[in-house]
Amino acid sequence: MKRVNVSSAVGEYPVLIGSGLLSRVGEIARTAWPGRRALIVTDQNVARLYLDPCRTSLVELGFEVESVIINPGEESKTLDTLYSLYNACHAAHLSRIDGVIALGGGVVGDLAGFAAATYLRGVAHLQVPTTLLAQVDAAVGGKTGIDLPFGKNMVGAFYPPKAVVADLKTLQTLEPRRFAEGMAEVIKYGCLFDEALFSALEREEVDLAELVYRSVQLKAEVVARDERDKGERNLLNFGHTIGHALEQATKFSRYTHGEAVAIGMVTALKIGERLDVTEREVRSRLVRLLEKWGLPTESEIPLEKLVPALASDKKRWGSEVQFVLLQKIGQSLLKPIAIGKLEQLLGEVWSGE
Ligand SMILES: NC(=O)c1ccc[n+]([C@@H]2O[C@H](COP(=O)([O-])OP(=O)(O)OC[C@H]3O[C@@H](n4cnc5c(N)ncnc54)[C@H](O)[C@@H]3O)[C@@H](O)[C@H]2O)c1
Ligand SMILES: [Zn+2]
Repeated sequence: MKRVNVSSAVGEYPVLIGSGLLSRVGEIARTAWPGRRALIVTDQNVARLYLDPCRTSLVELGFEVESVIINPGEESKTLDTLYSLYNACHAAHLSRIDGVIALGGGVVGDLAGFAAATYLRGVAHLQVPTTLLAQVDAAVGGKTGIDLPFGKNMVGAFYPPKAVVADLKTLQTLEPRRFAEGMAEVIKYGCLFDEALFSALEREEVDLAELVYRSVQLKAEVVARDERDKGERNLLNFGHTIGHALEQATKFSRYTHGEAVAIGMVTALKIGERLDVTEREVRSRLVRLLEKWGLPTESEIPLEKLVPALASDKKRWGSEVQFVLLQKIGQSLLKPIAIGKLEQLLGEVWSGE
């Protein structure tokens, strides 16, 4: 088992990475809160595969366990589902010494984490991520929240878990497209901070444990320096400004998040080249690596559809975007760019028709 400690304003918590860790959730929960009750939050797909082993491990350690199973997918990240989780907390008789276990992908993690952050003004929780994206990204860093009808992740809290338990075995049941989507975020970390990771991925010399471990380490380092997203953490948005716009322009149905980010990263390199920041060979390396994972590197969505989606995030940004650029693989920087200028640059590099 590998371990990465993440520091946060309220103390340190471990991310445990290994194969078969689901059977140790009980033991980990035992050290995470003093009470004897646990509420497992999961979705239908994950429940079918992993609810029983998770529950058994808790029961064996003497927990009284209840569970709540939500519908899978982003559509569930709503106030209504959150309310149903509060009801489940109440029905499970959770008190402030008990805890919640988020067993699933990022949707379950964000929802259950936010329920834990707010129920009784905060109860303990464990993140047990079961998608690659959640293991390398969503479950690490303490952001929790839900969507509102007018935007994603509009309400939330910074609320770190007591521990993150990443069982690599659970990734075996992921659909290939879901796995590839997580790889887009792993490749992102390589691009931003770690040439060695990037070139190991190119040579296909990293095993799954190492890849998750290194990604978590890189995210943990950034989060430790900028937990509340005031500066450096914005680097993690590499490929996301355009990726988000693309997801929105296609109503979240054409691309997975990771696919949109893949296209967004390549587009950000093109913009960096225009600005004389990004070295030329970076793009060919990135495109090759993304293609290895079956990730798209360009889109046929017309610019006219993309630009309004970019602008609709204006409220969050004010008039300037902290745009993430690469100088070379492993070397990144934030550059404030006025939205109008970004739209112009995008027009110059976007090839969709
Ligand atoms: N809090 C953060 O810092 C942060 C960071 C990145 C993303 N997120 C959030 O994470 C969410 C996306 O997470 P996601 O990609 O994990 O999506 P998800 O939770 O919707 O999971 C994707 C699908 O995979 C299924 N699944 C999960 N684990 C499985 C397994 N082991 N085997 C088979 N199927 C499995 C799920 O049922 C679901 O259908 C978004 O809501 C996003 O906003 C949060
Ligand atoms: Zn992302």
